[in-house]
Amino acid sequence: MKVLVATEKPFAGEAVKGIRKELENAGYELSLLEAYTDKKELLSAVKEADALIVRSDIVDTGVLDAATRLKIVVRAGAGYDNIDLEACTARDIVAMNTPGQNSNAVAELAFGMMVYQARGGFNGKPGTELRGKSLGIHAYGNVGKYVAKIARGFGMEIFAFDPFVDDKIIEKDGIKALKTVEDLYSNCQYVSLHIPANNQTKASIGYKLLSMMPGNATLVNTARKEVINEQELMKVFAERDDFSYLSDIAPDCSDDIITKYPGRYFFTPKKMGAQTAEANINAGIAAASQIIAFLEEGDETFRLNS
Ligand code: 3PG
Repeated sequence: MKVLVATEKPFAGEAVKGIRKELENAGYELSLLEAYTDKKELLSAVKEADALIVRSDIVDTGVLDAATRLKIVVRAGAGYDNIDLEACTARDIVAMNTPGQNSNAVAELAFGMMVYQARGGFNGKPGTELRGKSLGIHAYGNVGKYVAKIARGFGMEIFAFDPFVDDKIIEKDGIKALKTVEDLYSNCQYVSLHIPANNQTKASIGYKLLSMMPGNATLVNTARKEVINEQELMKVFAERDDFSYLSDIAPDCSDDIITKYPGRYFFTPKKMGAQTAEANINAGIAAASQIIAFLEEGDETFRLNS
């Protein structure tokens, strides 16, 4: 069996070693396509693959049509908005993700960005602290839970809103569960986003919610840039001089923000949340072992498509 690891943003070397070991122990062959710049390279590499491991790499009908031997694709990570699940189903290809494996790394980045911003980008002038500030966790999944744990260490006042998670689970972690999304934004100086990007959530965070935030508001987005309504984000920037936006990957309107609102933003140059050796090792090896378990035993835990 041939397993292709196709990563436009490569895993740490140690993670690749771990994936190779896992696959070779099962008698499988690893083929690597790293840091590719042209989709044609992926289309050609995927031809021979029985299984595919990707990160945010786009797996669309073009890729799936080229992958005539493909039985399973695993997104080594949480968000699967890059995979056409319906197209996988139509071709009898199983799609999975590896939930939780890179969540701590993403949560740590959220705090890295918050501290950076609170200290004025380390510009030598007095900044502010996170202790005592209100933090709203928008969606209490794997990343949200790690964010809550770290926030407790910082001494923040922590709130969460997640319509898909029972309040009791949130309250058990000592976090105040809020009933509505409006409650979250109107109560929290910091809001950290952990919602997936799908048809319901895309462009769902905009003027209404952001203008409700209390003074010195900071929106932290380590989820997906697509969940923000950027036109409305610009309106909030224009109306409030106490609003900052921190995002793991620049929004499409970044040039405008950079020109007009210095000191009120931070954007990573590439999506960096899961870019730690630990997260790469966890997610990469989990992906390899899920492929083996599926191909050997038909194990469909973490299957995303029906
Ligand atoms: C995820 O959804 O798991 C994260 O956004 C990480 O994405 P990446 O693997 O492309 O860094």
